[in-house]
Order: sequence, then C-alpha cells, then structure tokens
Amino acid sequence: MKTIAIDIQHALYFAGKERYEALEPAAVKAISNLNNCEGAGNDFHGWVKLPSEIAQAEIDDINATAEKLAAQTDYVVCIGIGGSYLGAKAVIEALSDSFAAYAPKGKHPKVLFAGQNIGEDYLAELQKFLADKKFGIIVISKSGTTTEPALAFRLLKAQLEQQAGKEPAKDLIVAITDAKKGALRTLATSEGYKTFVIPDNVGGRFSVLTPVGLLPIAVAGFQIDKLIAGAKAMQETTLHATPSNPAMVYAMMRNALYQAGKKIEILVNYHPKLHYFAEWWKQLYGESEGKEGKGIFPAAVDLTTDLHSMGQWMQEGERTIFETVISVEESNFELRIPGDKDNLDAMNYLTGKRVDEVNKMAELGTRIAHVEGGVPVIKITIPQMDEHTLGELIYFFEKACGISGYILGVNPFDQPGVEAYKKNMFALLGKPGHEEATKAIQSKI
Ligand code: PA5
Repeated sequence: MKTIAIDIQHALYFAGKERYEALEPAAVKAISNLNNCEGAGNDFHGWVKLPSEIAQAEIDDINATAEKLAAQTDYVVCIGIGGSYLGAKAVIEALSDSFAAYAPKGKHPKVLFAGQNIGEDYLAELQKFLADKKFGIIVISKSGTTTEPALAFRLLKAQLEQQAGKEPAKDLIVAITDAKKGALRTLATSEGYKTFVIPDNVGGRFSVLTPVGLLPIAVAGFQIDKLIAGAKAMQETTLHATPSNPAMVYAMMRNALYQAGKKIEILVNYHPKLHYFAEWWKQLYGESEGKEGKGIFPAAVDLTTDLHSMGQWMQEGERTIFETVISVEESNFELRIPGDKDNLDAMNYLTGKRVDEVNKMAELGTRIAHVEGGVPVIKITIPQMDEHTLGELIYFFEKACGISGYILGVNPFDQPGVEAYKKNMFALLGKPGHEEATKAIQSKI
C-alpha cells in the first residue's frame, strides 16, 4: 500500500545540511520522550498510542451511535470549537463530495457545525434553517466550560426540545466531554444523554482520533476503522528515530528553516478539499509552538486559487517564509479536457489531457518559481484522498508536532495564552466571580 512521502531537497539548500543535521540529537530525544511518556507536558501524551490502543468496543459504540442518529435525523449539528471542532470538520470536508451540501439527504445525515464562533447571524440563520428539520446534536467540550459551544448548545437544545419534545430530545443529543468534571458532564448526567469520554491525557488539538472526531466523521458516513488503521500504520512508521521517519525529517527541517530566519510556514494544497485540513494543522502547530516568544507562524493557502491573491507576496515578498506542500498523487475521478473546433480560447494544446495533469504542472511550475524566488519548499506527497491516507496524515502531523515542539524547546501540549481573552471577556460581561477583573478592565476602556 502506498504511503506518505516527504521530500526536503528544495528546503535543505536554504537551511544548510549542517544546521539540519545538528538537530538530530534533539529529535532523537524528542521521539524517545514521546514514546516513553517523558518530557514537558507528558500528562498529555495520550494521543501517541491512541491508534494502537483504541478499543474495538469503543469503535463499535461510536458506529452504533452514529447509526442511531442517522435513523432519526436528517441533520446533525456538531457543536464545539478549536480542537473540539477542527479535526472532524477537516476530515468530513476532505472526504465529502464538494457539492454534498447542496444535494438532497442520502443515507447519512448532513453534519452542520456550530459553537465555533459567536456569530449572532450565523446562529440565527442556523436556527431558521433547522426550524422545519429533523435534527440531532453532538455537543463536544473537553473542559465542558467553553463559552462558544455552551452558548450554541443552550440555543439549539431549547429549539430541539421545542421541536421534538423534551423527552425525545434527550435521545437526539450526544455529549462528548470529560469523564467527571465540567458543566457539560453535569448537564449530560442530569439529562441522561448518551456520552463519550475525552481521555484526560489527550489535549483538544490532538483529539481527532477520539470520539471528538470519530463520532461526527462516522455520522457523516465515513469509515472510522480505516481512518484509525491509517493512523496506526503511521504510528509504526514514526516510532523510531531513523532517517526514514517522515515526522522526524519534517520536524527537523522546519526547525532548521526557522533557525535560518524562515519564521512563517505556509501549508499549501492544490486540492480544494484540504482547506479545512490546513485549518486543523494551523491550530495544531500554532497552539503547540507559539509560546515563550517563539514559534513558526502557521499560515495556509489553497492553490492555485490563492496564486491569484497571495501569489505576488509569496513570489517576491519578505523572504521569511517557507512552504510545505501537500500533493495528492491520484485524483478520485478522471476528467479529460475536450477539444474545440474553433479554439477561440487557444486551449486546444490541452485537448485530451487530464485536469489533474494541468494542476500538477501548475504545482511544479509554482515550486520552481518559488524556490528560485527564495522560498524553501518541503513536499509531502499523499497517495490519494481516503480515510486511510487521512488517518496517516493526521498522525504524521501530530507526531511531527510533538517532536518539533520539543526541538524548539517549548511544552507543545499546553496553551496558557488562550486564557487571556477569556478572562477579559468574562470580566467585560460581568461573569460572577470576576468582579475585581471587571473593575480593572473597565479602567482600561
Ligand atoms: O486544543 C485545545 O485544547 C483547544 O483548542 C480546545 O480544543 C478548545 O479551546 C475547546 O476546548 P473545550 O473542548 O474544552 O471546549
């Protein structure tokens, strides 16, 4: 079976082989830490062995719950934010037909998302849309206290109870949260919702291979056993500190580039369905590494679309960027360009070629241009877009993130900076218990 391949030859030149190789001892130590549950943040190392340790009974329970929701609903609203949202969104978008949202409901409910923003119009329009629909809710919050999902859940729970009846609504709500603590756990227990547990030792952004990601993905009709099998294969591939470990290579390369002054990494795709995968990746790396005044800034573009907006900057702007390209080897469909007898658009030279061949030449041409323009390029090739490959890609980026954070010298598993805005928001809204902060913040306005 084909797997992920990494090519660093167009990046190594910029960072220098010596700088790259000098990072090897730190990478070896990082892999050992992750494998042996040692090092900073080791109480959040649970994701490392998730693919090999997830119980079949849990997978069966997730699939059975998804089927039950599918039998009763046309839409399932998945409520969560950050790590409790992005993994499921990324995988569902990557695997779904691009126009699924506009198609009539098939065998599986359509998965909608809420609680990932505080948009009044978004929530009002969602409520309007659901007003005459059969829907269910998956509410996800590890802490069980996050404002955005709690707010969306309060609105949608009330709507569901009103539309389906208070008792039947209980059967249409699944909560995914901490085993014991948090307001969502208290609520789920008191209402008698079906629940799944987010393990204590798995942080939000590393939780896509727990029920957090797996249940919404299963509800959308995708095969979570294949996703896990892919992740498990990559768990084995990235286990040892060897030159063929792609996660180690990626982590070393991006740190070497960072040390060489390349402070911004742009994740590039040439496959529009990977847009939200990049959003997931941005959170994974941004929250894991951006601390203590350090960290590569993770950005992303969809090409060739964004070559017509960001292309100028990437080609000729400040040379502090590097690119990591995700290249999909095989499309799922084959589409050939038709000839035209008048050839008024002068496109006949492409007659009979596949659309993907044009895309691949755009990718190659862009890489050559960007490298010549001073942009290092790391290339990650994936064989195709399916559950197995996405499972591999998820685990690859997770493992590389852990290694990379340790090479950088930070704890990749905490996120102390996320609290700052919350404290201010609570103070401004007058949340009980924040009286002193309210006084202090009002003096700043
Ligand atoms: O990675 C993280 O820990 C965060 O992004 C969280 O996932 C996010 O803040 C949501 O938190 P919770 O699941 O506790 O509602």
